[in-house]
Amino acid sequence: MNNTVYSLKNVKKIYKSQAGKTYALDDITFDIQKGEVVVILGPSGSGKSTMLNVLSGIDVPTSGKIKYFDTDISKLSDIELTNYRKENLGFIFQSYNLIPNLTIYENVELGAHLSKSPLDIDKLLKIVGLVDMKNKFPYQLSGGQMQRVAIARAVAKNPNVLFCDEPTGALDEKMGKQTLRLLQDINEKYGTTIIIVTHNPSIAYLANTVIKMNSGKVSDIHKNDKIMNAEDIRWA
Ligand SMILES: Nc1ncnc2c1ncn2[C@@H]1O[C@H](COP(=O)(O)OP(=O)(O)OP(=O)(O)O)[C@@H](O)[C@H]1O
Ligand SMILES: [Mg+2]
Repeated sequence: MNNTVYSLKNVKKIYKSQAGKTYALDDITFDIQKGEVVVILGPSGSGKSTMLNVLSGIDVPTSGKIKYFDTDISKLSDIELTNYRKENLGFIFQSYNLIPNLTIYENVELGAHLSKSPLDIDKLLKIVGLVDMKNKFPYQLSGGQMQRVAIARAVAKNPNVLFCDEPTGALDEKMGKQTLRLLQDINEKYGTTIIIVTHNPSIAYLANTVIKMNSGKVSDIHKNDKIMNAEDIRWA
């Protein structure tokens, strides 16, 4: 069985403008294995969001090859890319993007819509610790609670890969750690491959694989021998 979720070979993303070319991704080659937690670290402008965009098929690389299992996603049509996202991927962002006039339960349920193998919503609400909140509306929740709803919504369809762009960026240490703990629980319970993009170097201690980016290049890639629990990391 093929356990390689993503395989990138010489991937480049070049933006052209009057000022010249920007190499947002500059010859990137690496693999991501099924069930891994991957943390992509790097300063502002280093290409982290561009990386998420090309992996998730929101954007197309200028050259190079990206395989999702045995599918070359650099060759898919727009419709095929939409289906690829719909069937396989979940997304969590720094801003939670909850629907204000739907309850917590309904927000999470929305994530399961059209999925072939949705998770049980009540069970999921229990995992994220929001059973008592299920009939409340987003404005009645704290930031950390809203992020937990966003995670439950992204996970409800039981995605193979969960993409997180600065998932703790709007949270304080306590809420941030709770959010990361939840991502670890989901990784353990469902075997979801989780790819987290962040400025926060502390989060790298939770990863199986850490990918450091600088000016569009991978400056370092390494595996952690020991993976820390979210509650034990030092918050940068
Ligand atoms: N649509 C675009 N058109 C032109 N240049 C772009 C575009 N998107 C990104 N870039 C450039 O590509 C480089 C990488 O941007 P990217 O958004 O991937 O960085 P990032 O690591 O996510 O930064 P941040 O931490 O600030 O979110 C930057 O130099 C940026 O200006
Ligand atoms: Mg970014």
